[in-house]
Amino acid sequence: MSAPPSRGRFITLEGIDGAGKSTHARFLAEELTRRGRRVVATREPGGTATGEAIRDWLLHRPMTHDSEALLMFAARREHLVQVIEPALARGDVVLCDRFTDATYAYQGAGHGVSLAMLDTLAEFVHGDCNPDLTLLFDVPSEVSRERLARMQARGKSLDRFERESQDFFERVRDGYLARAAAEPARFRIIDSTRPVDEVRAEIRAIADGL
Ligand code: TYD
Repeated sequence: MSAPPSRGRFITLEGIDGAGKSTHARFLAEELTRRGRRVVATREPGGTATGEAIRDWLLHRPMTHDSEALLMFAARREHLVQVIEPALARGDVVLCDRFTDATYAYQGAGHGVSLAMLDTLAEFVHGDCNPDLTLLFDVPSEVSRERLARMQARGKSLDRFERESQDFFERVRDGYLARAAAEPARFRIIDSTRPVDEVRAEIRAIADGL
């Protein structure tokens, strides 16, 4: 009888809107696949049919900040049970575009939702299933604002979060940096103001070490 596969790696990608995270997420997935790793690339809110429906509400319908946090965690629970835990049990690398750090940064630091409530929800929804590694794509809020304005000028319609003020994004960024400072072993902060090729070189080095 063959031994059960060892648990896979759970890697999350975070950063404020306009930090280039999603582009770099695709690149990291390709690099890992080229190295022969089985990769499950997914995102939050979303990643399941129910989660994607919840995402649509979250991004487009007005609601209280508390409901926003509750829906983020509802989508997360579906995602965890249907996608993340089975993939980790198979020994795959799970590359997740945003996870609970985003809820602390956006709903907690950005919108003022009680951090104690987020702690309780995080414990209820995923217990100790936490990322092994979190890549934080970091840019100042001015850079995020300029990039979002350029995307809008090219015809992209901005969602509820992307339309928030620069102050909001500054608080979200500070929220992320505070979480990274509290858990330096888990986080890797990537200066995402640099040209794409430089960031890619850093991502390649990270892929080599995984
Ligand atoms: P995002 O990764 O930015 O999607 P896209 O690259 O397609 O624009 O995620 C969508 C938004 O959801 C983003 O503005 C941040 C927000 N969000 C939260 O506010 N809290 C959360 O817990 C998560 C997972 C996302």
